[in-house]
This record gives sequence, C-alpha cells and structure tokens, in this order.
Amino acid sequence: MSTTVKALRGAAITLKDNPFEHPSDSCLEYIEEALVMIEDGVITAFGPYAELAGTLPAGVEPDEYPGSIMCPGFIDAHVHYPQLQMVAAYGEQLLEWLTTYTFPTEQQFADSAHAEHVARVFLRELLRAGTTTAMVYCTVHPQSVDAFFAESARFNARMIAGKVLMDRNAPEGLRDTVERGYEESKALIGRWHRNGRQLYCVTPRFAASSTEAQLEAAGALLLEHDGLFMQTHLCENPSEIEWVLSLYPERSSYLDVYAHAGLVRPRAMFGHGVYLHEHDFCTCHAAGAALAHCPTSNLFLGSGLFKLREALDPRRPVHVALGTDIGAGTSLSHLQTLNEAYKVAALSGNKLDAVQGLYLATLGGARALQLGDRLGRLAPGYEADICLLDPKATPLLAFRSSYCKDIVEQLFVLMTLGDDRAVRATYIAGEPVYDRERTGEPFRYPASI
Ligand code: GUN
Ligand code: ZN
Repeated sequence: MSTTVKALRGAAITLKDNPFEHPSDSCLEYIEEALVMIEDGVITAFGPYAELAGTLPAGVEPDEYPGSIMCPGFIDAHVHYPQLQMVAAYGEQLLEWLTTYTFPTEQQFADSAHAEHVARVFLRELLRAGTTTAMVYCTVHPQSVDAFFAESARFNARMIAGKVLMDRNAPEGLRDTVERGYEESKALIGRWHRNGRQLYCVTPRFAASSTEAQLEAAGALLLEHDGLFMQTHLCENPSEIEWVLSLYPERSSYLDVYAHAGLVRPRAMFGHGVYLHEHDFCTCHAAGAALAHCPTSNLFLGSGLFKLREALDPRRPVHVALGTDIGAGTSLSHLQTLNEAYKVAALSGNKLDAVQGLYLATLGGARALQLGDRLGRLAPGYEADICLLDPKATPLLAFRSSYCKDIVEQLFVLMTLGDDRAVRATYIAGEPVYDRERTGEPFRYPASI
C-alpha cells in the first residue's frame, strides 16, 4: 500500500514536558519556522524548516498559513453534544438546570434524525474551535451514539464517546435499566470501540441517576473489554453532593461511591471535582484517574471554583484535563475556556501561565486520558491533529498582538482574547478538514452530506 506524505510549514508551538512540574520556559518548544512531516496521518518529523527541508520527498509542497501558529489540536475532556442546542439556559443551578432544561432537551435524541443533525453541527463546531479530540456524553439512546460516531468517523477524528446510563431519578424516556444499559453499551462497544480512531467510553451520568447495581454493571463492562474509557460527574455542586451522600449513606464520600463500583481507575475522567477533599485527591492519584476542569460551566451554573493547584499538588498530583462542559459551559473554544480558567485561578490567589494553559488544553489532556504517547504534541510518532491559530483574527487581537514581545505573551493574549475566530484551520490525521478562508465550504465534508 502506498503511503501518503504531507507537510506543513510555519511557526509552531508545542509542549515537551509538564509546566506544572518544570519551569514553563523549559517545557515550551517554539519554532519560528518549522516543518511538520506527516505520513499516513502520523507525524514523522518536526523541527526547524532549515534543517528538515532537504528531507522533503520530491513533489511534496508543504501547506502554509502565513501569520498563523501551528499547535496540537485541542482536547476537550468533558462535553455533552446533545446539549449544544441549550447552551445559555437561564437562571438555574445544577439540579434545577438538569430538570428544567437538560432532560427535556435530551429526550429529543430518541429521534435519530435529530441526533444526526445535532452531531453534524457539533462536530463542525469542535473543528471551528480547533478541538480535534473530545470525550463526549451522548444521551441514553444508542442512536445518539451511532449518530455521533458516524460523523466523527467521517472526519477520521480521534473521539471518545458513550451512551449515558441512567436507571433512576430521570424522566421515563431517559431511563434505561441495569440490563438494558449493559446490553446497549456492549453492542455499541462492539460497533465503535477501536473502529478506526473511535474509542468507547462507559458513561454513567452521575451517582444520583444510577443505582448501585448500574454502577457495578458499568464497572463490569470496563473489565470485559480492553482500553475502554469511563466518564461521570463528581462533586460539582453542594446540593448535588448532599443528595448523592443521602442516596449512598454507607459510602465515605461521593468518590467512594464510584470506587466501590470499580470506576476509579486509569482512563476514568471525573467531571468537575470542585469540592474534593485531600483524601479524594489521594485516591485519584493512586488510581491514575483524572479530573476534568470545566471553568465556564462552574461559573455559569454558580457551582464553585475548582482547586487546580491542590489537584496538581506535586506530592500526589492528580491528572487534570480541560473540559468545556457544553451545555452548562458557555463556549466550545478552549481559548475561551482557558480565559475563564485563568480567572478561576486568580480568584483562588493563583496564576495560570500561558504555557500551563496550553499544556492543559493539549498534552496534559492527552496524558490525563492515557493517550499522551500519541496525542497532544507536535513530535514524531504523534497523530497529526493540528490547529492553526491566527493572532490577528480580530481587530483587537491584531492591535494587541502587535505589542507582544515574545511567543509566551502572544500565547497568553490568544488565550485571553481569542475564540473560534482565532482558529484559521484544523487538521485531522494530517488532512485539512476545516479552513476558515476556504471559499464556499470551509469544511472538508459539508454538513448536508
Ligand atoms: N451532572 C449530571 N448531569 C450533568 C450534566 O449534564 N451537566 C453537568 N454540568 N452536570 C451534570
Ligand atoms: Zn457535564
């Protein structure tokens, strides 16, 4: 079989190490004029153009986006695609927000045509935001999962998703049973897990909407198949925590409910974790489980301030990734998510520098998902999911960027003022799937196909 060789030329930034453990400037790799060589969707060489140009095979012309900066595609570790249509739902905190807005919306996904429509819009919004991998909640309906993976597979994107499991405390149309949730998940795993770049995620929504038996069935699924992921919600809001503890009086903490079912493990992603105690952080650290920091959601629902520094305490660091948590979150852009993460850190008396921010959005997220050997970096052996950032995307960005003295300041300005407009193009497995400036149709596959 012949290989496909491609290349990209231009400024590039990537992380080579963890800036929460090492000085930030030693972790950032910035190349003013880089060459990325790609074979069959995987990076084979990355370095200064002047050094690598001679190795370009005859006839391969690198793609160029003058003025833009290449960086690894963003990783959104917590997002609900069915909630895209209800972003900006007014006035409630978590539990009322779920019953007033979320559950009625999710019931619409019994209809495959609706699910397919929203999945198409969602996938394209991710690409417009420069996000190339996401860990996605579908709804309780298996057809919502098929719709999502079918669209992701069309773009050959590295996506992680699963059917929500809920067997109590939800409207009838959104409830499954222990057996049905197990069987439907198993069938979806057979259809989608490791089908191309798709990965399956066992998805009990949260402890209040699953019985203990359902959480145990989720734990059983994880043991029965290799390489599955797990996602759920944890300690997001005080009323939610009180409710969960009242449903599981025999457990020592909210996290302990999940631990008893075998859900606290590598490749487990716990959304929020705003109100975790030291003991919970130790449990997550020991288990290799990860937390998804979702600042726009935590602010929008008034949930609270995530303790990033405590989570990352070098004595027992917990993996932390960045999540948008649409529809409780307010933007699919990781630039905007970092803008709010900075402010959440500031309110706790801490800083989040630009290199640390980029790490959370890329390599740190990949490592939290145990995919740090293939996602989140521009380096040989890494999958060529790449986002091109435009520092002059808006008049204000262009004006402010003209005063930046170095790449770190430029990156911080992008994190603070940037959003989907600052994404010039997005590559998936080496293919340009989105280009803001392509005339006519910016996406490789129009939504109508
Ligand atoms: N807890 C349980 N379900 C949800 C959800 O859909 N969004 C958020 N933010 N929290 C939840
Ligand atoms: Zn969520």
